Amino acid sequence: MDTVRIGIIGVGGMGSSHGSYLEKGEVEGCKLTAICDIDPARLALFEGVQKFSDSKELIRSGACDAVLIATPHYDHTTIGIDAFEQGLHVLVEKPISVHKADCERLIAAYRKAKDRVFSAMFQQRTKPVFKRIKRLLERGELGEIRRTNWAVTAWFRTQAYYDSGGWRATWKGEGGGVLLNQCPHNLDMFQWLCGVPSRVTATCQFGRYHTIEVEDDVTAVFQYPNGATGVFIASTGEAPGTDRLEIVGDRGRLVLEHGKIAFARTEVSVAEFTRTSPEGFGKPDFWNVEVPVKDAPQGHSVVTQNFVNAILKGEPLIAPAEEGIHSVEIANAMLFSAMLGQPVDIPLDGAAYEAELNKRIAESTFEKKVVAKADEDMNASFR
Ligand SMILES: NC(=O)c1ccc[n+]([C@@H]2O[C@H](COP(=O)([O-])OP(=O)(O)OC[C@H]3O[C@@H](n4cnc5c(N)ncnc54)[C@H](O)[C@@H]3O)[C@@H](O)[C@H]2O)c1
Repeated sequence: MDTVRIGIIGVGGMGSSHGSYLEKGEVEGCKLTAICDIDPARLALFEGVQKFSDSKELIRSGACDAVLIATPHYDHTTIGIDAFEQGLHVLVEKPISVHKADCERLIAAYRKAKDRVFSAMFQQRTKPVFKRIKRLLERGELGEIRRTNWAVTAWFRTQAYYDSGGWRATWKGEGGGVLLNQCPHNLDMFQWLCGVPSRVTATCQFGRYHTIEVEDDVTAVFQYPNGATGVFIASTGEAPGTDRLEIVGDRGRLVLEHGKIAFARTEVSVAEFTRTSPEGFGKPDFWNVEVPVKDAPQGHSVVTQNFVNAILKGEPLIAPAEEGIHSVEIANAMLFSAMLGQPVDIPLDGAAYEAELNKRIAESTFEKKVVAKADEDMNASFR
């Protein structure tokens, strides 16, 4: 095979944005051959491709070697499983599924399919600043991690945003709020850089700033297996909002804010200084290091190019979709902790969380108001 024929399932805001760069030929070695959407109006979007209103038909049409799934999250699981059962490669939008048990079902179908490529759209992994931090951490420049802190309250959304789609911000349609829609990127990055916490204690406020039934404000405490602790704060209700990641290690403190990495690097190990210094009020000397970051191609099309290269040439994936279970599990753990009013351990009991989510769906009395809005530039939604 020298050209991967791609079909996009779900050509709403994000799916049509993927279709645009594919149509412009920005990804080499592939061709957009089909689209699918349950909304007939969305099928008017692309010329010269086969069009389907049912994903099963696209998957069985023979028009595609691979699918890019950009539907609301619950369908990522069912459509992904169907695609693997029919022998297609899959690039799935984030989150890979709504909850851990669905992630496991999807991953099981991938493993059963064998030799298929399964990638997730975590385009933040292509951002040079995050790649730089990852390298610093892997090289041990910061020493053992002691504390993490990510306040990401810059995901501001209006009521009009939540009213724009029937599936948004309900337990039944989306399975969560800011943790499931905006934060999968942050949570993937948090675990990619700092690892998966072993215990989560969270406060989630449901519909604090918006008329929605799911969470739009979250404050969580993480405990990691090595004793490190962390705080994760997220909101869609604050403006102007903050986006500040701080990682403290045995060799100093690293802060990412406004796209810049500030690294205060201690001269010696802090643990050793604590143990050996004769001075009661002494502190380790440190240098403020400016960490250079080289510009490089980044964004959605880079992940899609990597997916195509993985199919054609076996290139290692930037974001293997199996790793997508971690951000889902952390998000689920935060929600479950808030629902139960107690800490939740990871590995999470996926069946228990699924049962709680289904209970919320069954007991929901929330009436969703949907107000159609004009197409907006998706670029305004990316961070
Ligand atoms: N990677 C990113 O930066 C990023 C940004 C935005 C959204 N997303 C993800 O993309 C997905 C879609 O989000 P969106 O904002 O584009 O939503 P959207 O509502 O704008 O688009 C979803 C589209 O899917 C269609 N659809 C629904 N069910 C379908 C089905 N069973 N088969 C075929 N089509 C179906 C809808 O008609 C709609 O056109 C979500 O999972 C979201 O998390 C990712």
